[in-house]
Amino acid sequence: MMDSLTLPALARAAGTVRLPGSKSISNRMLLLAALAEGTTEIRDLLDSDDTRVMLAALAKVGVGVTALGGNAWRVEGCKGVFPVKDADLFMGNAGTAIRPLTAALALSGGRYRLSGVPRMHERPIGDLVDGLLQIGADVRYTGNPGFPPLAIHPAQVKLAAPIRLRGDVSSQFLTALLMALPLTGEGAVIEMTTELISRPYVEITLNLMARFGVEVRREGWQRFTIPAGRRYRSPGVLHVEGDASAASYFLAAGAIGGGPVRVEGVGSSSIQGDVRFADALQAMGARIEWGENFIEAGAPVVGKAPGKLRAFDLDLNHIPDAAMTLAVAALFADGRCVLRNIASWRVKETDRIAAMATELRKLGATVEEGADYLAVSPLPTFKAGVAIDTYDDHRMAMCFSLAALGGVPVTINDPQCVSKTFPDYFDALAEITAPVIAIDGPSASGKGTVAERVAAALGYHYLDSGSLYRLTALAALRAGVALDDEAGVAALAMSLPATFAGGRILLGDDDVTDAIRTEEVSVGASKVAALPAVRGALLARQRAYRRFPGLVADGRDMSSVVFPAAAAKVFLTASAGARAERRYKQLIAKGMPANMHALLHDLQERDARDAQRSVAPLRQCDDADRVDTTAMDIEAAVAAVMAIVRRQPL
Ligand code: DC
Repeated sequence: MMDSLTLPALARAAGTVRLPGSKSISNRMLLLAALAEGTTEIRDLLDSDDTRVMLAALAKVGVGVTALGGNAWRVEGCKGVFPVKDADLFMGNAGTAIRPLTAALALSGGRYRLSGVPRMHERPIGDLVDGLLQIGADVRYTGNPGFPPLAIHPAQVKLAAPIRLRGDVSSQFLTALLMALPLTGEGAVIEMTTELISRPYVEITLNLMARFGVEVRREGWQRFTIPAGRRYRSPGVLHVEGDASAASYFLAAGAIGGGPVRVEGVGSSSIQGDVRFADALQAMGARIEWGENFIEAGAPVVGKAPGKLRAFDLDLNHIPDAAMTLAVAALFADGRCVLRNIASWRVKETDRIAAMATELRKLGATVEEGADYLAVSPLPTFKAGVAIDTYDDHRMAMCFSLAALGGVPVTINDPQCVSKTFPDYFDALAEITAPVIAIDGPSASGKGTVAERVAAALGYHYLDSGSLYRLTALAALRAGVALDDEAGVAALAMSLPATFAGGRILLGDDDVTDAIRTEEVSVGASKVAALPAVRGALLARQRAYRRFPGLVADGRDMSSVVFPAAAAKVFLTASAGARAERRYKQLIAKGMPANMHALLHDLQERDARDAQRSVAPLRQCDDADRVDTTAMDIEAAVAAVMAIVRRQPL
């Protein structure tokens, strides 16, 4: 367990993030699939604390849930009758699990006890219990009235009058009742007695219920009618879309840190209300682009330079979770920002209004906190060396990671709280923000040695991309896959069991540090590197090396393809004569035979081939700095690259 994580000062954000599955959709789909008739396969389910809580609870009440690998799950529907009639269920701090399960279990004729972490026992559930009591369910508080833990007993349910329900504390109470009521088989009506908040979440509920065959009639946001005699039926295979709330951190990073940042997995066809966060960013002047399955954000452009975000005063009731991200984005605006109608923040994982105000002030911000609003003034200079407390709230941790874009290192306490919804959050953030130094150049230019030393000097990670092509070739040779079998070699590249540790390179358990340097593998590497599918297969793997505090990456297409938004790009070269001479000296030093004339000839031929090939040709990027090392030794070359790196904002 890590107590804290210090993010380095970050200058910019650009790149693409594939979002994990939506928490709201994952947990609703799991419950609906469990209650349905038939088997459902759910693909791209979120793998996080809150979905594990739901999966564990369903398994405990006898629902068949099976992992199919790759975040796909099979759920054997129980046709509304949970096989296990007596169980203790631990719900952690998962509101999306305890609320709907309470309602479903209360209508299922068993004895169940539901409890959670201490904070869960401070989060209200009284409005839901009141609704259930009106129809004759037997739900009792075993701790404080109005809060979990709860005990559920069998009871005869009667659906005579409409259920009267408050909607102003949490929309999850309505969601819970809506999802559970079809279990009775009778028609039911819910009438809201107070204004319904967070309506887009109810829309997700209605949308998913419809996919399981139950259409709810909605009159405004006032009255909901569930038809009699409709039961849930499995629709077969379902996909969970990406988490729109999680998208907010990356989109905000793009708007603050230049961009463009693209999130994949949500877009114009999304059923999650939190995609409207992009409109709020747009209102701040950010450049937003929508695709069916992506959203992209970049900083406002003034002339050619990235401009400042505009101040806002917005009612954010419709996007309560993503709105937290705006409180941190406000630090980067050109004036005081007001977030209105956010009272529900007070009953979430923590009192988010209080927590947000306290932590923003630590960074030096002026914040005004009201019962249901927050006003945040921009911060010309961020206080350095601040440690942010996260209150066991994943969103606090994710929001405050953006403060590092204020150009100061920021420490996040208890960073693993992100596992509630996004276990790999900081890796994903690093993939769009960690500084990259890309070093391209022709073979034998010394780029490997220089890159490794620059990485050591900066304390950065180091990627020798050539070794990935070499490993791929070696794996193909060993597996008997022909080197021109594009699909076969690409499949190997995709799942290469490669490890880089302490200067050694492993393929599986086998140390292949020397084996990948043989002539046979070098020739093979150059062949497989010409196959587009192989390059594509290695792309995501190479980008995953981009971690905090930064990365030095060497290889011919680092600046152009793999890290086009690198903080610094260097084209390291030397005359063919100088490179041939270096290779000659290396070979002689190793006691190997060498012929200067032949080496020079080979290099010149290879340069010509490399420059002309259609896939990843060797050429200097327009925005790369050229370092000609013909007359330099290694130390001088390292110094020249370091001088370029130091000119960058970080
Ligand atoms: O840098 P190296 O000699 O270890 O590279 C091995 C082969 O892979 C060589 O033919 C160049 C190729 N390569 C590539 O096409 N793209 C990269 N980013 C790195 C190497």
